[in-house]
Amino acid sequence: MVAQYDLTGRVAIVTGGTGGFGKAIAARLAGCGAVPVLWDLPSSLARAGETGLASQAVDVTDASSVDAAAAELFARFGAPDILVNNAGIVGDVRRTWEIPVDEFRRIVDVNLMGAFHVCRAVVPLMLAKDKAERRGRIVNVASIQAKEGMHNAAAYSAAKAGLVALTKSLGKELAEEGILVNAITPAASLTAMSIDAPPERLADILSRIPMRRFLQPDEVAAMIAWLASDECSFSTGAVFDLSGGRATY
Ligand SMILES: NC(=O)c1ccc[n+]([C@@H]2O[C@H](COP(=O)([O-])OP(=O)(O)OC[C@H]3O[C@@H](n4cnc5c(N)ncnc54)[C@H](O)[C@@H]3O)[C@@H](O)[C@H]2O)c1
Repeated sequence: MVAQYDLTGRVAIVTGGTGGFGKAIAARLAGCGAVPVLWDLPSSLARAGETGLASQAVDVTDASSVDAAAAELFARFGAPDILVNNAGIVGDVRRTWEIPVDEFRRIVDVNLMGAFHVCRAVVPLMLAKDKAERRGRIVNVASIQAKEGMHNAAAYSAAKAGLVALTKSLGKELAEEGILVNAITPAASLTAMSIDAPPERLADILSRIPMRRFLQPDEVAAMIAWLASDECSFSTGAVFDLSGGRATY
């Protein structure tokens, strides 16, 4: 049975909303009555076609693009209640000293600076809601690599570890404001991001997961639905594992 949380009418921004996880998260939130708004790159929105959900073209690496989208969203839907920072890229798989400087920066820009830009634009809009009515929930999609530091993925691992630290800081800052901020650390799932990885890398990743299978996007959506709901009420600045037993901390 799928748990149904009552998110009726709650405006939910999902960055990277047309990707593998993003689609599942948006569908699950919509199923709980929320109003998802997909923030994604123009090329990804065009590829996704008509989804039946609201969307806005946003490049999370560009603070002015994010600010413009936030202002438009506020005018159209009012204050957002839920934010899922899910946009991400894995980038080139190389040893640390072989990563070109621009490539390292690009990966950090999307995975860490992107989430910062979005929080910077969206948190003030969440705070605009009367405190008594505020049910703010921010979920940052990090990665098992934030905890473990995957070989040949230093930029991605470092950016996701930074996102975990951002979650802890922001969680403390908003702890008395009716806005909970949490991170999830998924293991590998066969979405567009990972499906083209070399078979030997995928086999290596699978061998590290005690459940011996890849994560399903619906399992990400299930955890996020709870984190976005009133049922999640005393957790903030926390990191929730989704690694099939790989990380036991
Ligand atoms: N798939 C996995 O194995 C895995 C594991 C752990 C964590 N994650 C994380 O989950 C999140 C979703 O990944 P996914 O597996 O759905 O990958 P995906 O490639 O299917 O989706 C990523 C989405 O992010 C969007 N995006 C990329 N750059 C952007 C930008 N500059 N501005 C706005 N949107 C941008 C893409 O257009 C795409 O829709 C990412 O943050 C990823 O790092 C994925």
